[in-house]
Amino acid sequence: MPKIDIRGRDFLRLSDFSAEEINSIIDLAFEMKKEQSKFSIAGKTIVMLFFNSSLRTRTSFEIGAFQLGAHPVVLNIGQDSWDLEWLEGAVMDGDKPEHIKDAARVLSRYADIIAVRSFPKMGNYDDDRRDPILSAFSEYTNVPLINLESAVEHPCQGLADLMTLREVFNGVTKKKKVVLSWAPHIKPLPLAVPHSALMAMAMGGCNVVVAHPEKFDLEPEIVEQARKVAKAAGGKVEVTHDQAAALDGAEVVYGKSWLSRAFYGKPKDELAYRKTLPSWTITEKKMERTSRAKFMHCLPVRRNVVVDDAVLDGEDCVVYQQAENRLHAQKALMVKLLGE
Ligand code: CP
Repeated sequence: MPKIDIRGRDFLRLSDFSAEEINSIIDLAFEMKKEQSKFSIAGKTIVMLFFNSSLRTRTSFEIGAFQLGAHPVVLNIGQDSWDLEWLEGAVMDGDKPEHIKDAARVLSRYADIIAVRSFPKMGNYDDDRRDPILSAFSEYTNVPLINLESAVEHPCQGLADLMTLREVFNGVTKKKKVVLSWAPHIKPLPLAVPHSALMAMAMGGCNVVVAHPEKFDLEPEIVEQARKVAKAAGGKVEVTHDQAAALDGAEVVYGKSWLSRAFYGKPKDELAYRKTLPSWTITEKKMERTSRAKFMHCLPVRRNVVVDDAVLDGEDCVVYQQAENRLHAQKALMVKLLGE
């Protein structure tokens, strides 16, 4: 079979790629996890721009690039680099001294890959939905651009999630009951991780159940797309407001909190609404309803808010394996984007 070639492409959303292409990155990630020494992108450079904090994404990319012989450069925007304007036509007389179009064009002349983390501003959903920072970089870079988590997707997390599902199910993810369960948090969190997790599960052909309280719907377009992708891969996607029923017989439970689009830009109203809900915290007791499910979470996680210590510290928890897989999956991604 010919090798699947994704050289030179941007990696902004899982759904920009076919399930076959995503699985080919993960196939390579498994090879690297076994034996990394035969892969190299020596002499290449990756510039990462962080508009928001990170532990896993930053370290796994930096260390991954180092292990492959490449040189990573990290810029924390507004701290050790100029703050960047992204609005087209902006009169730049405020506190942002450089425009993304200039920064992106300059960095394209230095770097072989550019990668950007930019969370939503959480004011206006339609504005955030357009991913203005990532979109501006995408327009003005001419080397592969990697999304390190934006308003809409966290595709690198999605890669590691699908890799972990493949490990958990010994390679056969089709029709496995996998639950993506909303969980509480002290503040509204972006939709990027659940969107990418859903797409990863769909690409694995899992029987996915998305469980969340009313008013916490994921983006309908993404759910619809996931339904189609899951069906093509032999699975399905269902949505329920009944967490207990969702957990019955589940083989994986992916806990995650996300915001309500119904209260977008109104965090106090959302938190008041959350107080009216029954507890959605994932507990050991609730996990007893499952078929000895593995527990997944992207991390960072607020212990005993999102999920109890007993689940996180229990033997069915795979969150560290999932976090480790960020390293292997992203190394495979860099190699594939630059050419195996
Ligand atoms: N899961 C994840 O992206 O972690 P960081 O925010 O620490 O990078």
